[in-house]
Amino acid sequence: DSNKMWGGRFAAGPDAIMEAINASIGFDQRLAAQDIEGSRAHAAMLAACDIITDSDAEAIREGLLTVLSEIEAGDFNFSTALEDIHMNVEARLKDLIGTPAGRLHTARSRNDQVAVDFRLWVRDQCDAAISGITALIAALLGQAERGADMVMPGFTHLQSAQPVTWGHHMMAYVEMLGRDRARFQDARTRMNESPLGAAALAGTSFPIDREMTAKALGFDRPMANSLDAVSDRDFALEYLSSATICAMHLSRLAEELVIWSSAQFRFVALSDRFSTGSSIMPQKKNPDAAELIRAKIGRILGAQVGLLTVMKGLPLTYSKDMQEDKEKVFDAADSLMLALAAMEGMMGDLKPNAKVLAEAAGAGFATATDLADWLVRTLNLPFREAHHVTGALVKKAEDKDADLADLSLAEMQEVNADITQDVFSVLTPQASVASRTSYGGTAPGQVHTQIARWRAKL
Ligand code: ARG
Repeated sequence: DSNKMWGGRFAAGPDAIMEAINASIGFDQRLAAQDIEGSRAHAAMLAACDIITDSDAEAIREGLLTVLSEIEAGDFNFSTALEDIHMNVEARLKDLIGTPAGRLHTARSRNDQVAVDFRLWVRDQCDAAISGITALIAALLGQAERGADMVMPGFTHLQSAQPVTWGHHMMAYVEMLGRDRARFQDARTRMNESPLGAAALAGTSFPIDREMTAKALGFDRPMANSLDAVSDRDFALEYLSSATICAMHLSRLAEELVIWSSAQFRFVALSDRFSTGSSIMPQKKNPDAAELIRAKIGRILGAQVGLLTVMKGLPLTYSKDMQEDKEKVFDAADSLMLALAAMEGMMGDLKPNAKVLAEAAGAGFATATDLADWLVRTLNLPFREAHHVTGALVKKAEDKDADLADLSLAEMQEVNADITQDVFSVLTPQASVASRTSYGGTAPGQVHTQIARWRAKL
């Protein structure tokens, strides 16, 4: 027995393997709500344009609401033979209301239908990502506020570089996440045009009103080219690119948490709520959540590369290859939202270890730049010469297995006779961070300024 939707020109039904490779209902049932929303807008428009009667439109509207409530109640029998969400919904609508159901697909194709469903779904995911990022930013601002004066080592090459504050370090991630949020906002704005009414690919001979359906679905306008409307998935790719970049940021922060929570660093204590133990080693508290956040980019970037690869060679317009767009995006979106939520939870609970951070902040001759700057400021040495003098002082301290501040004034004067006692005032990490008052620098005042700016715009 041939297919209900297109059986007219077929004598036989599909092979079981054909059905297996062709069906998408196993995953595209996640588009049910969007599919029904799109169909409702379409039916209302068909009636408004006198393409179907008001009573048919009303029957369709009520029937679709019943289908939606059945699906939401988990009381819907999805059929693989019906291939996808679009045909499953329409077939059930036919069971419920009979003949008028057959009029819903007037001036429409599954090509513009799936394009509108998926766009609505991805648009929702942009909004979800934006609120997830906003919540994480709020948690980071809390950390930054509590630790605005807390000194810690700043690193380059993962070697001690210059002291910074915990607040400044947290605010660096706030800036990155702020750009991530803006990327999702930009992508959302660009994708917010309606493909509905493009029909199969060429538009339709029916007098439809695409402005009306666009408006009903919250789009800014209808897409201007019907071929483009049914054949591009750049909106999903933009979502995935934004997600990949955000996941990369989360992965870097997660990596820092893994390092910082180790017994060798002890910079932070993870909460019990976001760590795990070991079945054999009783002392263990493992940063599993951070590790999994670090790993999620594998899936998300994988989805991006996968979808680009699917799309890159396709001639216009729709090809069935494009059915492979959805699972990747679903998985990437689930991964991103989970990673954001887990990171928000971890950052809310995280306890920086102020004492360990302060000790580490002074280690590794981290205030050597401050010493060189002092030589420039106080003795008017050219910076290059000051750098050289400071290098010699570092060497001297290192030979004694001591810090710069442990050298005596006499020892310093062996390297440069003009050095005075005042130099010791710049050698503490606290003095170092307090002096970094340039715009965007690590001085607590600057950090508080940035926190206030973010609080105001959150
Ligand atoms: N399940 C299909 C998809 O996900 C819907 C569109 C089918 N269109 C078609 N011409 N076969 O892309």
